[in-house]
Amino acid sequence: MDEVHTGCPTCGSLLDVRYDWDRVAVPGSLREFEGRWSTRRNPLDFSGVWRFRELLPFAPEDKIVTIGEGQTILQQSNSVARYCGMNEGSLFLQYEGLNPSGSFKDNGMTAAVTHAHMVGATQAACASTGNTSASLAIFGSCTGLLRVLVFIGSGKIAYGKLSQALDYNAKTIQLEGDFDDAMQRVREVCSQAGIYLCNSLNPFRLEGQKAIIFRILESLAWEPPDWIVVPGGNLGNTSAFGKALLELKELGLINRLPRLAVINAAGANTLHELYERDGLRWNHGRPDATVREDYFVAMEAGGRRAATLASAIEINRPVNLNKALRALDACNGVVREVGDQEILDGKAQVGAGGFGCEPASGASVAGVKQLREEGVIAASDRVVCILTGHQLKDPNVTVAYHSGKSDDFDRLLRPSGVNEAVHANSPVVVENDLEKIMEVVSGF
Ligand code: F0G
Repeated sequence: MDEVHTGCPTCGSLLDVRYDWDRVAVPGSLREFEGRWSTRRNPLDFSGVWRFRELLPFAPEDKIVTIGEGQTILQQSNSVARYCGMNEGSLFLQYEGLNPSGSFKDNGMTAAVTHAHMVGATQAACASTGNTSASLAIFGSCTGLLRVLVFIGSGKIAYGKLSQALDYNAKTIQLEGDFDDAMQRVREVCSQAGIYLCNSLNPFRLEGQKAIIFRILESLAWEPPDWIVVPGGNLGNTSAFGKALLELKELGLINRLPRLAVINAAGANTLHELYERDGLRWNHGRPDATVREDYFVAMEAGGRRAATLASAIEINRPVNLNKALRALDACNGVVREVGDQEILDGKAQVGAGGFGCEPASGASVAGVKQLREEGVIAASDRVVCILTGHQLKDPNVTVAYHSGKSDDFDRLLRPSGVNEAVHANSPVVVENDLEKIMEVVSGF
């Protein structure tokens, strides 16, 4: 706990946080956490992560760094349910965009920054498609505990996210290359310069992200849903969700695990190919390394790069692959890929029938629709879609979609295979003349 490792010192593989549960005062029932609702003046009880601190018991209370993360909402959406072919009342949207930096990352960052604080780090870094950098940067600016360095790929980040890193005063390095390049470089830089690394290969990040599961259960009165559907990029959420559910089961706090569906963008579909096509499995902790390596060698040889409008999940080398396989194994999981057209249509449905979300999050709705059409999800199943990021993260894509047939549409969306904006809500251009305006309003 008082050392910094981002991989196993022996084999270089991922590290996992394991607890000796016999030494922790874990509540006998999840309902006991409800007692904390009445003590919300304590910042640890207010936090949507640390109010479950007995389930991620790695930090002394006086070292915990919180900025009020995790005040997020689970909402039923009947219009999205209808769109996906689900029964009324059976589809729920978990709005992680309501976090302080506008994405789910704050759940994990509070835990990573807490560990950084425990080891006395004063500098932290990450590679990012945008949201991790916004999250680390806000923790730096709010707490004053860390100077923050972020690595992003060129032209690979939505404007809202870049504006956050700059506004929160993070030193921002824009590399020639994409996220996979930035990820490799930040690891090298952190190990050479002794900077604390906050990407999700940091196992403490995933401890914090377990709280998304705890809050979903809390919102559903502790009754697990049938499915949890999540977009897959670096596979941190997938891994954290599996770990959370396995631990709750081990502790006897739930008696049944939901199934997990991980949705890749078709242009960044490593997990889908490895899991569904090549049959790579957790295999009791020994996934077939040859299958994985062959895949990456072929990817390299073909010069294949991730490409999707859902820039948050434009990742071809997911660092948490192995842990994600464990999660899929534990939760009888499935993996699907969806095209950018389906992603943007799904996103538009969330906007029209809810609070909205950024493109990557639309993948979970598109994934439910596909799994319903296949009959894998039943219309009566209770399904939770994770909406990972806020609608305002990527206004360019949203405006281009709703502007319908426009230059923006042709320039930004069409090259990615989006041919029509089925749910476009274009602005109506009218002369500044009351009569003309009334003509438009009368048809409203
Ligand atoms: N959705 C959003 C909005 C994201 O920002 C990310 C990841 C994901 C989904 C994928 O989550 O990695 O847990 O599978 N964004 C990272 C970043 C990579 O740098 O902000 P995952």
